[in-house]
Amino acid sequence: MTGAGTSPRRAGRRRRRPFSVEARLAEHVDRLADEHPPIPVDSADYSMARPELLAERFGPVLTYMSRVELEVERNVLELNILLPDPPAVDRHFYADVWLPQETHHGLLLDRLQSLAGLPPADPDLTKVDFSYRLLGSLGRWSAVQDVSRMLYYLTGVATEQSAILAYNKLHQGLLELGERAVAATIVAPIRRQEPGHFAYYKIAAQGLWTELASWQKWLVRTLRRHTFEPVGAYTKKQWAEFGAVMHHLGITAEGGGGLTRYAQQIGRVELELLWAQKQGLRVPAYVVNSLKSAARLAAAERSVSPSK
Ligand SMILES: [Fe+2]
Ligand SMILES: [Fe+2]
Repeated sequence: MTGAGTSPRRAGRRRRRPFSVEARLAEHVDRLADEHPPIPVDSADYSMARPELLAERFGPVLTYMSRVELEVERNVLELNILLPDPPAVDRHFYADVWLPQETHHGLLLDRLQSLAGLPPADPDLTKVDFSYRLLGSLGRWSAVQDVSRMLYYLTGVATEQSAILAYNKLHQGLLELGERAVAATIVAPIRRQEPGHFAYYKIAAQGLWTELASWQKWLVRTLRRHTFEPVGAYTKKQWAEFGAVMHHLGITAEGGGGLTRYAQQIGRVELELLWAQKQGLRVPAYVVNSLKSAARLAAAERSVSPSK
């Protein structure tokens, strides 16, 4: 953003950040760009055996995932505000590689849901929450920006892990419905791109965590505990919608065990980094409690309106 490669602040940060992490990230982003160009929307086979049944079974999943994928456009605006002076490799990743890939995921899912007779996606592409502006202005101090960056990486890890698991379940569910074409040409190519995003955030989070001072680690733990939310759930309505996604993917149908396993997978990396000192802890409580709240909200809505 600044191109200020010679400023003392950037030079200092470069010295602090282990070269191996920076180099690994740069190499990883180049490989993602080479091997995973955005999936052309016209490359997919949208033919469906029973579109009404597909919409009934997986409509809430398609609606939610298409919105979240398309809202990456707003997420990039948020990142530009949150991180006034990020490492160049982060900006290259989110602006040049991650954004176009995710946007195409959203476009593919949106086309599919329209063809299945569902309403088009309605993403919010512009409304940036005030908290980003606040943290962004504090981020002029690089020590504070590092806390924000850590939270960004942790959110990325949890978000991408949620997506991987959701697309695995969706793929399996579509095959069980006999919808081979859309499973093979839409969901399978999308889910092949998500692990690369997850790996980026994991490498970045592990690298940065070792560089943080004790007070920064404390602040990250505290903020994370109080701000964790399921991917794409910013309002109570969206929390309930996320609960419906878990329901339609069969995650909550497996009883409490399915939800706990899902939470463990989403929270594994931050459990190992942030909470390593808590012997015996299997999942951060705020992760599993958030998913339970979402499931409860969705169950309450289903009791009023059983089609949800
Ligand atoms: Fe995606
Ligand atoms: Fe992703």
